[in-house]
Amino acid sequence: MAEKQFDIIIYGATSFVGQIVTQYMHDRYGDGAVGWAIAGRSQSKLEDVARSVGLPDVEMIVADAADEVALQQICARTKVVISTVGPYALYGDILLKVCAENGTHYCDLTGEPHWIRRMQAAHEETAKDSGARIVHCCGFDSIPSDLGVHVLQDHAVKALGEPCERIDMRVMRIKGGASGGTIASMVELVKEASGNAQLRRELKNPYSLCPPDHDFTVRQRNVGAEEDKRLGKWITPFIMEAINTKVVHRSNALSGNSYGTHFRYEEAMVTGRGTGGKRRAKLTALGLGAFTAGVAIPPIRWLLGKFLPKPGEGPSPTEQREGMFDMLFLGSTASGKQARVRVTGDRDPGYGSTAKMLSEAAACLAKDIGDDVPGGFWTPATLMGDTLVARLEANAGLTFEIVPEA
Ligand SMILES: NC(=O)c1ccc[n+]([C@@H]2O[C@H](COP(=O)([O-])OP(=O)(O)OC[C@H]3O[C@@H](n4cnc5c(N)ncnc54)[C@H](OP(=O)(O)O)[C@@H]3O)[C@@H](O)[C@H]2O)c1
Repeated sequence: MAEKQFDIIIYGATSFVGQIVTQYMHDRYGDGAVGWAIAGRSQSKLEDVARSVGLPDVEMIVADAADEVALQQICARTKVVISTVGPYALYGDILLKVCAENGTHYCDLTGEPHWIRRMQAAHEETAKDSGARIVHCCGFDSIPSDLGVHVLQDHAVKALGEPCERIDMRVMRIKGGASGGTIASMVELVKEASGNAQLRRELKNPYSLCPPDHDFTVRQRNVGAEEDKRLGKWITPFIMEAINTKVVHRSNALSGNSYGTHFRYEEAMVTGRGTGGKRRAKLTALGLGAFTAGVAIPPIRWLLGKFLPKPGEGPSPTEQREGMFDMLFLGSTASGKQARVRVTGDRDPGYGSTAKMLSEAAACLAKDIGDDVPGGFWTPATLMGDTLVARLEANAGLTFEIVPEA
């Protein structure tokens, strides 16, 4: 790759999460170890962000998401583009296309599987030819899930002599809020799916992000409000499961089915023991179903929009600091051996922690991945694996821990 002016350009630095990414990059890499700049559609908003992080002289680049020439110029100046301009299905196409064409590496926070699939179909061959490494889902969805499974499978192979045939991820504790941008992305997805039966089928397919020639036929389970006997606690559907499971299955496919062709993976949220846990599990499952159904109906969608955060809004700095997550991965091998891994994060998952994960993924792409690694649409686990785990533990407040079996 020709010498570039920057390691990383943060496109969408004015977004709610982009501002936290910018602050993190300044705090962590202000010493120049990673060269970075910010970009967005508005010069004055970029200047506000630069001032608020205490770096008024940071390089700023103005580019609208529809301006292909301006986006080409971003690609010409950097090794890696971080994009937080979403909903990606509305604004992400052209940036992804020019990154794939120019051999510029790219990472983002999308949780929109239909858009990822569309981009894979359109640009995978171009990215392979140009050497651009594209890595979606570099935030709370889906780094902890993808790397948690990666760490557990690595441990299982080394300690038990075989990979886990089944892994269940349980969100044991979680504290944080949603931003307007995330809600806008969810609403956009439900809106599009409500009038499109083909898309609804695709969203239900756990293997929809796997390469078309994948070997997986195992039926994956849908979690309901139910008791997990191993934990003695009630569980309920986890909202991020829809994207996380697809990313984990793609990692399996891209790694030559290293988790096995009969690999089963599910995610759920723990709601507690006894009647209280049961009530919360049922109410959460009901609430999730009602939210999805409601968003599909225009007048209810309009009404919900009055109460939910708007684009640009999200959890306060205190809520981000006081947030956390704690996830347990329970694995069992084909011969019945058990292993567990615990993954934790020290900020609210969606923003404080996500911003650190995305920044470290970008730094890993810019600094750690050798030139011999081919271009294409990767996953966090298959491209960055242990190297990213080490970065996240060292810099980003995440822990990955093998839990001894009782
Ligand atoms: N995976 C995860 O864990 C995770 C976590 C958090 C967020 N997300 C996703 O990340 C994305 C950003 O979330 P957010 O809450 O930070 O969103 P947000 O605050 O609403 O920001 C949206 C950004 O898009 C920019 N934008 C909109 N139209 C544009 C255009 N035509 N050209 C260039 N830029 C344009 C906005 O620029 P202006 O500032 O100039 O309006 C803003 O910077 C969303 O898609 C969200 O779903 C994912």
